Amino acid sequence: MTAGPLVVLVGPMGVGKSTVGALVAERLGCAYRDTDDDIVAEQGRTIADIFVDDGEPVFRALERDAVGRALAGHDGVLALGGGSILDEDTRALLTAHRVVYLSMEVEEAVQRTGLNAARPLLAVNPRRQWRELMEARRHLYTEVASAVVPTDGRTPEEVAQAVLDAL
Ligand code: S3P
Repeated sequence: MTAGPLVVLVGPMGVGKSTVGALVAERLGCAYRDTDDDIVAEQGRTIADIFVDDGEPVFRALERDAVGRALAGHDGVLALGGGSILDEDTRALLTAHRVVYLSMEVEEAVQRTGLNAARPLLAVNPRRQWRELMEARRHLYTEVASAVVPTDGRTPEEVAQAVLDAL
C-alpha cells in the first residue's frame, strides 16, 4: 500500500458511503472526505447541474481529477462517487490503495433511494435502471476492491464495524 487514505469506500449511490465513512473516520479518529463534495466545492454548482449542463463525460473527467487529488492529499477515510469506477484511469489510480466495496442488492437499492431527482441516473424507472446499473458496475467495484462488505439489512454502525474489521 502507498501513502494516502486509510481506506477508500466505493459502491453504488445510496449504499451509505457518507454515513458509514463518517462513522469509520470517527472510530479511527481521522478526517472524512468525499470526492462528490470536493467537486461541488470546486465547481460551485451541484452534481445534477454539472450532468445537465456539461454531460456525464465532463463530470467523469472532473471526478478523475478529484479522485487523484484526494488520494494524494488525504490520509483519513475517503468516499468516492458511485460511478467513479466507470473510468479506467480512475480505476488505475486505486490499485495501490486499500479499497472497500460497500455492496447492496437491487431491491435494497430501490427501497433505499426510491425516485430521487437529485440523482440524475435514477430519473425514470428506478428498478430497471438499478438492475442495469448494477450489472454494468458490479464487476468494476469488485475489480478495484480489496474487501467487500455487504450492507443489506445492516445498520450503518454494523457496516462501519465490518469495514473496520476488514482493515
Ligand atoms: C453517481 C453517483 C453520485 C454522483 C453522481 C453520479 C453515479 O455519487 O457522483 O450523481 O454515477 O453512480 P454518490 O454515490 O455519492 O451518490
